[in-house]
Amino acid sequence: MEATPYCRVTEKPIESVPVPNYTDVEHGTWKLLLDKALGLVEGRACAPFIEGTRLIDFPRDRIPALRDVSARLQGATGWKLTRVEGLVHPTDFFKLLARKIFPSTDFIRKREDLDYTPAPDMFHDLFGHTPLLTNPDFTEFFEAFGKYGALAADKYPETHPVHAQLQRIYWFTVEFGLINTPQGLRAYGSGSCSSPEEMQHCVSDKCRKHPFDLTIMSERDFDIWHLQHDVFVIDSFQQLGREFRDWAQKHVGAPD
Ligand SMILES: [Fe+2]
Repeated sequence: MEATPYCRVTEKPIESVPVPNYTDVEHGTWKLLLDKALGLVEGRACAPFIEGTRLIDFPRDRIPALRDVSARLQGATGWKLTRVEGLVHPTDFFKLLARKIFPSTDFIRKREDLDYTPAPDMFHDLFGHTPLLTNPDFTEFFEAFGKYGALAADKYPETHPVHAQLQRIYWFTVEFGLINTPQGLRAYGSGSCSSPEEMQHCVSDKCRKHPFDLTIMSERDFDIWHLQHDVFVIDSFQQLGREFRDWAQKHVGAPD
């Protein structure tokens, strides 16, 4: 029997989860990644993302404990983290988001994978995702995404097209979305903000920018192996939430 690529969600309280005994090399990997990413966010990432990094106040010289980041989120928006070993099944993932819980790994990539790791590690999960989990406008959308995703999982078989559509929307918003600001286009996607190459690429002329359109993005395939060539631009997190809920009402149905 083939092993499933998804890990189980055990959901122990984050305060009771032991912090791994990271090596000095692993702490050094975190420092290298964080220094590089923080050096690139100004003028490229959106203000709420940058404010989120300040609010969480990631330690520079050592890997943070998930429980400490989770406490910062709880104070800001009521969200919290749960530890997972790797990718979780989309149904489990949506059900966690619907309860304002974000699953994070606690392993860090190997030094030889410094610039890119195909399997998301804790730098991607923490630096990429948690800053915006301090922003109520973004989390309102993210929670709605979880509720509709969980509803779709309950209502439709795995082969139904709505599941792939939700994955694509997630990719083009949460992972690689851009936002219009008075200062110019800025990234809010976790995949862009946690990857130095993507961070520079996504706001450059090398990447095609498209107006936000959920019908188009829900039908566009994405590429997980290369820099993104097509990105979608929102005007605000309120627009993202409003238009997503309209789309989801039509394609998924009304949540409770
Ligand atoms: Fe991600």
